[in-house]
Amino acid sequence: MTDIDHPKQVDSIIVNSSQLLTMTESGAIPGGAVAVQDGVVIETGKTEDLLRIYPECPDIIDAENQLVMPGFVDCHTHLVFAGERSGEMEMRLKGASYLEILKSGGGIHSTVRATRDASAEELFNLGMERINRMARNGTTTVEIKSGYGLDEETELKMLKVARKLSAEHPLDVIVTYLGAHTVPTETDRKEYVRWLTGSSLETFSEYAEFFDVFCEEGAFSLEETKLLLDAAANAGFRLKVHAGQFNDLGAAGLAASSGAISADHLENIGDDDLDLMAEAGTVAVLLPGVPFFLQSPDYPDARRFIERGIPVALATDFNPGSCPSYSMQMMIALGVFYCGLTADEAVAAATLNAAKAIDREDQTGSLEPGKKADIIILDVKSAGELPYYFGTNLVTKTIKDGVLI
Ligand code: NIG
Ligand code: FE
Repeated sequence: MTDIDHPKQVDSIIVNSSQLLTMTESGAIPGGAVAVQDGVVIETGKTEDLLRIYPECPDIIDAENQLVMPGFVDCHTHLVFAGERSGEMEMRLKGASYLEILKSGGGIHSTVRATRDASAEELFNLGMERINRMARNGTTTVEIKSGYGLDEETELKMLKVARKLSAEHPLDVIVTYLGAHTVPTETDRKEYVRWLTGSSLETFSEYAEFFDVFCEEGAFSLEETKLLLDAAANAGFRLKVHAGQFNDLGAAGLAASSGAISADHLENIGDDDLDLMAEAGTVAVLLPGVPFFLQSPDYPDARRFIERGIPVALATDFNPGSCPSYSMQMMIALGVFYCGLTADEAVAAATLNAAKAIDREDQTGSLEPGKKADIIILDVKSAGELPYYFGTNLVTKTIKDGVLI
């Protein structure tokens, strides 16, 4: 128990956890409890201590000996789009590769066609269904990228839908502009890069906090990525990069030297770029659902990042082409089984480090006084049981800003 000034009253206390994972220096508190007021964590401690300090608390939530921890932060998703691409999965199962499908006008281009055809209302309704599924699976904060418009009208439509989801759904939504997802089939490459780096940036910067680029064969080269990042930074965007998913083009190093907050994917990255990330403090966002869904043996190796002190985050990359999964619990399992994370590291990667990847670690990702009461209760006893019972939704309660949703 810390010697803080206890307020007289709190709105609610979650009690009787198997363990409370605070993701702070207090670590896991056996039988821990968390007191909440006005949507904010007031204090954490032992159940008997908090019940003694706040004997009048009107709302006692019994965790019934289940695990209590911060809600998941899904820091990399492409949640707003129309259509689906299960046909491409079938093609891949017969031997086609993701990049072949993209280069032949399918892949991202196929979702661009469907998204251009969809109304804002349709996209919003689809987004609502998806974000609700995420909330049921324990996500309390979600980053959403545009990138299936690749023209001014549709990119704006996507960004406005993401903003509307942010306004109307209890989850916190962080918005990223990804006009640089790939070059649209109807436009000349040079012309498209000129448009991306020109005055359109100012328009988009009103709707999005971050700017992201897919640096990859079939998308943007390292040189183009540099132009794009420089222009976006000048327009006031914070930066993110899809780096090293299939090929090591040096994008992770460029992300680090450009001051990007995160480099994402990172299956293919050289030691020099790792050192640059370590020096710059770039967060490594690993997306193990992607190699899993694409049936690739190339998972990112979390140990290489952790050895150098680089914060490792996990995210779903939820999108119709390379990972249609809503489940951060599944990403924890994949992170443990294929990326070399321990269960404790994977849980930190899905919460506090993921909050760092979107610059929200002062608000969420751990349970400590002053942070949002973004809390989940799961039907397991410890972090280690999360990967162990992989593949089912273990979340029994999702609490966002102190409110059960
Ligand atoms: O992060 N890599 C690029 N973008 C997405 C996939 C988008 C798609 O296939 O629709 C990703 O994997
Ligand atoms: Fe992505």
